Amino acid sequence: MASSESNSMNILPTSQPFNVKPAPRTYVDGAAISVPVRKRPSTLRRVLHGLFFILVLVLLVKWIKSTSLFSWIKGHLRREFDIHDDHWHYDVPSDTVLDGCVQGSEWTKDRYRGTKSYDLARTSFDLPLSADNLFMLSRGWLSGGSVSLVTSPEQAKDTVTVNVVASYRQEYVRSLAKACLVSRAGNQQGVGIFTPTWESGRRPENRQYTMVIFITVIFPESSDGSSAVAIKSFETDVPDTGHLVAHFLGSKITFDSISLTGSNSGIYVKALSATKGSLHTSNGAITGSFNTTTSLSLETSNAAIEIDVGLLSDSTEPNLDARTSDGKINARLRLTSSAGEGGNFSVSTITSNSPVFAIVADAPVDSALSFEATTSNGDAHVYLHPTYEGAFDVETSSRFNADLNFLPAADPSGKQRGRASWVQVQKKSHLLGSTSWSDKGSSGTVNVHTSNAAAVLDIVGS
Ligand SMILES: *[C@@H]1O[C@H](CO)[C@@H](O)[C@H](O)[C@H]1NC(C)=O
Ligand SMILES: *[C@@H]1O[C@H](CO)[C@@H](O)[C@H](O)[C@H]1NC(C)=O
Repeated sequence: MASSESNSMNILPTSQPFNVKPAPRTYVDGAAISVPVRKRPSTLRRVLHGLFFILVLVLLVKWIKSTSLFSWIKGHLRREFDIHDDHWHYDVPSDTVLDGCVQGSEWTKDRYRGTKSYDLARTSFDLPLSADNLFMLSRGWLSGGSVSLVTSPEQAKDTVTVNVVASYRQEYVRSLAKACLVSRAGNQQGVGIFTPTWESGRRPENRQYTMVIFITVIFPESSDGSSAVAIKSFETDVPDTGHLVAHFLGSKITFDSISLTGSNSGIYVKALSATKGSLHTSNGAITGSFNTTTSLSLETSNAAIEIDVGLLSDSTEPNLDARTSDGKINARLRLTSSAGEGGNFSVSTITSNSPVFAIVADAPVDSALSFEATTSNGDAHVYLHPTYEGAFDVETSSRFNADLNFLPAADPSGKQRGRASWVQVQKKSHLLGSTSWSDKGSSGTVNVHTSNAAAVLDIVGS
């Protein structure tokens, strides 16, 4: 290279005839300018040099390709998935025992193709209703789909049936899936769906290689049709899966404990009654109607939470924790007490970059409510029931308004008391104080916080 360059330098005219910036002088400059004199030999030399350079480059690339470094780089730059890559394993949690699996050709294939030329294959399992925990588990990169919870009057009274349908395009893909009866210590019975976890870390994205697993859990109904069937505990742990809870479940089944965990999909509940409930997902909304006596925890991200929740204090102190991010929260709460009056309740509705709105549509006289509504960059608005007594703290960032509205309503106890309120801090963006129907006060607290938007608290009754 050096000789070629000095060669071009030699033949450069001393005064620059072309409109070329004098420095720095590069090889390309020389090539462009070196047209007139001794044209032929220099071109030939350059061509030979070029050929030599190309040869070296080709050999170098060949050598690099033969090294493992190359396949490592290739693997990390080109995110291509190969369905026939057989470096994979089933990811079965160590506490889980497989009690028999349906796999390969054991799936029952539907005669008819599903919509959009997907094939369907199915299998089914029965679980004893008396199990201490009924659970659905899935692992692997082709296991996403949906879990639906329904009831049926035809369902055997002592059994829960789990139907599994796989929807896929390639027989080979389905042959990688296995559906198993699974169990864990402590009389826990369930169904597990296992598909490969590829060691390459790359995931099948091409539709040809995808599969969707639809799980339907069928609970029995009580024979008299009026009372609810009690389930001790039901649990799902199903990544990339959404949940649907059917309408009649609210009145026909009561769960002592229910825990639904999915991801990248929503949880849509028509009606659900549980002593204790925990619903977690991500990138999908949580919506529906719930009744609980002790606790309900709802958590998602990048999506809304829209709920109607009944909290019943039955010598319990029920609490609701609803949390998301970058999605709105819309909550309607009904607080009741089996004693008719009193009860301690705690509610938090927390999001970010979106509005939060909550209304307490019912609450017992002399109840104590601890309420937190927090967001950022969106309005925070809480509307309390006339029975509310206690402290309030309404705050936003300095250039925005914190508003406290007392709306007219009679004393809910029927004693025709008047509401008295004290404001300790009264600023444009911050209001702090307390309110009560009598001078005995009460232990409620409500915090309404946001930033860069309005914070509003409506207290009914004056
Ligand atoms: C919650 O309980 C109330 C009162 O018993 C009932 O009217 C409502 O339908 C129940 N909702 C759900 C979701 O079960
Ligand atoms: C509510 O809390 C107060 C004080 O924390 C307690 O004295 C009262 O017994 C509780 N009431 C109920 C119904 O749990």
